[in-house]
Amino acid sequence: MNTKQAFLEAMNYRHACKLFNDKKIPTEDLNYILEAGRLSPSSFGIEQWKFVVVQNQAMKEEIEKVAWNQKQISTCSDLVIILARKDVRSSDAYTQSQLQRWGLPQEGLNGLLGVYKGWVDGRDDHTIELWSEKQCYIAAGNMMSAAAFIGIDSCPIEGFLSDKVDAILGIDTAIFHSALVLPFGYRVNEAKSKHRLSFDTVVEFKK
Ligand SMILES: Cc1cc2nc3c(=O)[nH]c(=O)nc-3n(C[C@H](O)[C@H](O)[C@H](O)COP(=O)(O)O)c2cc1C
Repeated sequence: MNTKQAFLEAMNYRHACKLFNDKKIPTEDLNYILEAGRLSPSSFGIEQWKFVVVQNQAMKEEIEKVAWNQKQISTCSDLVIILARKDVRSSDAYTQSQLQRWGLPQEGLNGLLGVYKGWVDGRDDHTIELWSEKQCYIAAGNMMSAAAFIGIDSCPIEGFLSDKVDAILGIDTAIFHSALVLPFGYRVNEAKSKHRLSFDTVVEFKK
């Protein structure tokens, strides 16, 4: 099988897994999945995320209760909660240190900050939170694809109460909020056949 086929096969293999068996993901494979998240692109390279890996069973069960009792959460091997950053305005120390990594001379950095201010600072807090969440979803997609590529299942979950999950995790809510719940493990049941719009429906070429 060539690499194109192997990747598409992984895309077909991935499904929103509703129940995991009790097999644990080897540490090396879990780290590989997390690395795919870490290497993901983000707007301005800000990396507006953090990946919290819940392995504690009692904590998983607490989270499940505030996530529509979805069994994926308590049955998975590793529960990744992707946190989105709030401290991403141009004046925030975190933002400045991320932008400084571009290694620009002061004039260039000022120019970059000017563009950044125009893009981010005029927006309200909620819009900024959603902007960070968008980046988190890219990391989530990459983690799910990487997992599927090595035969590990996942399920993206946005059916949860973010403030309750924040409290369970004990995170600093001045800086973070939980954006996506992402369990990983191994399926109990075979996946149902996929429902997707046709290629011609979702793809339009302008020539
Ligand atoms: C952002 C997002 C949130 C989702 N939230 C949930 C969820 O809370 N519970 C769930 O069982 N599936 C959830 N899903 C899974 C979708 O229902 C699923 O991906 C879609 O129906 C396509 O099926 P497939 O992933 O099995 O191919 C979510 C998917 C995405 C992308």
